[in-house]
Amino acid sequence: IRQVTLALLKPDLCADPLRVRAVVNILESADSGLEILHRRRLLWSEEEAGHFYAEHKGRFFYERLVGYMTSRAFEALALEGPNAIQQWRSLIGPTQPVRARISMPMTLRAMYGLTDTRNSFHGSDSPETARAELALFFPKFYPGA
Ligand code: CMP
Repeated sequence: IRQVTLALLKPDLCADPLRVRAVVNILESADSGLEILHRRRLLWSEEEAGHFYAEHKGRFFYERLVGYMTSRAFEALALEGPNAIQQWRSLIGPTQPVRARISMPMTLRAMYGLTDTRNSFHGSDSPETARAELALFFPKFYPGA
């Protein structure tokens, strides 16, 4: 089924334009199965980061996560394709880059991720979160979160 998902290229990745270029090249290659519909670069306030990661409030890594996500600019992408939600999550791989390097070495987090927090990528985890996250980052195209 055709889906649209929300991808984030997080601040650690966006610190290096060559890495962003490499990831976009992979996405634009035919065999990713995904198409970039929209793309924007932004810088979050602590309030915005806290809102997005509200479900993690209280976890031991929460402060680190908010500090990291507000540390510099990052990119949000709307990706379209067959099973886009799962396809993008498969491309990025496990949350923790060190584990990804062992179990899924060809994934993007294995290749680019730095630490458990600075793991370079985000992908919506369900159609409901994809809808809400697309509405948050691209309200003109996906109104009504
Ligand atoms: P993501 O899965 O996109 O959303 C939650 C984020 O919290 C995750 O990416 C990481 O950036 C961060 N995170 C998750 N687990 C840990 C952890 N064990 N230690 C530090 N940061 C984490």
